[in-house]
Amino acid sequence: MKELNIPFKVVCYQEEELEPADRQLIEAARQATYHSYAPYSHFSVGAAARLANGQLVSGSNQENAAYPSGLCAERTTLFYANSQYPDVAIETLAIAARNEQGEFVSRPIAPCGACRQVMLESEARQGKPLRLLLCGTEGICEIKQASHLLPLSFDASSMKTE
Ligand code: THU
Repeated sequence: MKELNIPFKVVCYQEEELEPADRQLIEAARQATYHSYAPYSHFSVGAAARLANGQLVSGSNQENAAYPSGLCAERTTLFYANSQYPDVAIETLAIAARNEQGEFVSRPIAPCGACRQVMLESEARQGKPLRLLLCGTEGICEIKQASHLLPLSFDASSMKTE
């Protein structure tokens, strides 16, 4: 018998403790929530990515009457970043959300499973960690490497013969 213990660290900050560049990114993620199209869930998510060339790109959730055709803010942003700047690494992705009342959530939201899988691919592709900042009004949680959120994952190496 072999037991695996897979720990990972989440560090939570008060916003004032963060570097100005991170605070700017968080603000961009918050602003992106106002471009969300969420007539079904009324839950507006925004994401903003800082790229290795200093460029900021942002995106929001885009829903559809055929529900599964919609897309989360994280994937909208990652796909946009990777399609506009295919050779530039994504350093940090900030994620913010507003609830049905239009208020920013107090407890940060964590990305869904499908977004975690896409983050994993972006990380593998760029060969560098993709850092996450999950934003709540009560605090900001930092995850240094997105793939930490998806242990025991399926990736390109899973299809290789041993
Ligand atoms: N959503 C995101 O955009 N990101 C997340 O991390 C969680 C959920 C969106 C999908 C859907 O438009 C709405 O939020 C409610 O699930």
